[in-house]
Amino acid sequence: MYKILLINGPNLNMLGAREPGVYGTDTLPAIENRLQQLAASLDVELSCFQSNHEGAIIDRIHEALGTADGIVMNPGAFTHYSYAIRDAISTVNLPLIEVHISNVYKREEFRHRSVIAPVAAGQICGLGAYGYELGLMALVRLLADKRS
Ligand code: DQA
Repeated sequence: MYKILLINGPNLNMLGAREPGVYGTDTLPAIENRLQQLAASLDVELSCFQSNHEGAIIDRIHEALGTADGIVMNPGAFTHYSYAIRDAISTVNLPLIEVHISNVYKREEFRHRSVIAPVAAGQICGLGAYGYELGLMALVRLLADKRS
């Protein structure tokens, strides 16, 4: 059984109400619920965490060391400028899949750069909330490949 941590960054607690034309109408609890069901079918223990605060996200990443096998994360706007979150990921050295609901490359220029991507195992973007499910499946495959 793998232990996987799902982290959602700032403003993602507002999914459902937040720019539905961009992010869809699913709420974060609905997404987490679906992901818990998928996790159960993959024999994964999934912990879900959301914060609007950079330091709280960094603390949670540190806690993952020794307690989680990998991380699925949508860092929200921190994607584009948080060297501190990037350093936290390098520090714990756990495989991480970066997820974005929207296609950031189709949007404003400041969203085209991810400071997280260089320390991520992979990135999924533009596939809506389904990207979280793809991220979880990709991480499980990655962990299984590493183990074998
Ligand atoms: C996002 C894209 C980011 O640019 C934005 O700041 C978000 C959400 C996405 O899921 O598409 O908060 O990460």
